[in-house]
Amino acid sequence: MTLHTFPDGFLWGAASSSCQIEGATLEDGKGESIWDRFCRIPGKIVNGDTPAIACDHYHRFSEDVSLMESLKLNSYRFSIAWPRIFPVGGGRPNVKGVDFYNRLVDELLAAGIRPMATLYHWDLPQALQDKGGWIARDTAKYFVDYAAYMFEALGDRVDLWITHNEPWVAATLGYGTGEHAPGVSHMPSALAAAHNILLSHGEAVRAFRDLSRQGARIGITLNMSPVYPASSNECDVLAARRWDGCLNRWYADPLFLGSYPEDIMELYLRAFGAPSISIEDMGIISTPTDFLGVNYYSRAVVKADPEAQPLELSHVRTNRPVTAMGWEVYPEGLYDLLLRIEQDYDPPAVFITENGAAYDDQVSSGGLVDDRERMEYIRAHLIQLHRAMQDGVEVEGYYLWSILDNFEWAFGYSKRFGIIYVDYTTLKRIPKSSARWYRSVIERGSVL
Ligand code: FCB
Repeated sequence: MTLHTFPDGFLWGAASSSCQIEGATLEDGKGESIWDRFCRIPGKIVNGDTPAIACDHYHRFSEDVSLMESLKLNSYRFSIAWPRIFPVGGGRPNVKGVDFYNRLVDELLAAGIRPMATLYHWDLPQALQDKGGWIARDTAKYFVDYAAYMFEALGDRVDLWITHNEPWVAATLGYGTGEHAPGVSHMPSALAAAHNILLSHGEAVRAFRDLSRQGARIGITLNMSPVYPASSNECDVLAARRWDGCLNRWYADPLFLGSYPEDIMELYLRAFGAPSISIEDMGIISTPTDFLGVNYYSRAVVKADPEAQPLELSHVRTNRPVTAMGWEVYPEGLYDLLLRIEQDYDPPAVFITENGAAYDDQVSSGGLVDDRERMEYIRAHLIQLHRAMQDGVEVEGYYLWSILDNFEWAFGYSKRFGIIYVDYTTLKRIPKSSARWYRSVIERGSVL
């Protein structure tokens, strides 16, 4: 067996997001988010679950930070709930909301854990959605004010920032298919939302350059999957290229190359009409960042399908093992993806900001959660990550999704991604076998 050793200073982290763990959705002046509202629509969330209590992290963050410390994490990626800070999106900040993140950051630093803060992990203030949400260009302005406020509030202690988490998901599932909040099903709106999200990212990076202290860094997190054709037939190869365009290039190209991919632009123009995009916008969106955050869970395999309009492709299931989400376990995809990112975009640095797996965990009669499959999933991905680093990709850290079982969006509490089990009746936390194993990886700085 080979020992895969990671460099000194590598960040070993875990990730979470505000809406998925905090609970306390109406407490201390927090405003309503689009997810608080969306969850009330019957049939949108499995079991009618809501984020109202979630892991109650808002009240139990000290216990959670202690758990992180006991696992030897040296970094933790969390997100800030915009409606806690600006309950109606803009105007006067809510001091109690800011206090919560102040206390969280202080506690992390005291435990020797470096915070990485994400500004937007999908919980838009509902008041802004009432004005059009991400379809409205003005939302980008509100975002920048909020971002600038947070840079000033936490910037003396937080030196790693992410503007947005997974713009593809926020735009496509939120405004295109309606599976996520705010539940709009209109593809042209999804494209407008994607553009305004990217624009708000670029504007926030510019504000950051004015406000942040020396050495602080900012980036964006994309959900990226390498796309493989189901066969070597030309039509399948072209279908794979189209999906890669919609999922990966539509976001990475404007950010790193300053333009939307032409092939997909043509396709969207034919299908949905012209989006409102100016040359100046592209300059803002491609404002240089300090790193790219990559969330990787699985690959995509697609075939040509003329019936499936407008992209004329469909996804193919392979016969390899899948997780409880039905996502194929394909660790080699992480290697392929990282090399491709390096080759096509050459970002200054990369962080794996999410990687992990849902399985149907059970607590044994002895009170243990033995999640071997998750451990195996993580191990295999770390090995591929290490391989990519050996081959020259500069990756500075790895954040497991997720520290705790949590509210998995439309799946509610039915999917468990945590390395710490949460009993939603008692809110008791039980570190799973994978957590203990991850601690040993961190202690050794290597994986077998
Ligand atoms: C990602 C999200 C994260 C979580 C994982 C499973 O798309 O960023 O919040 O839901 O998937």
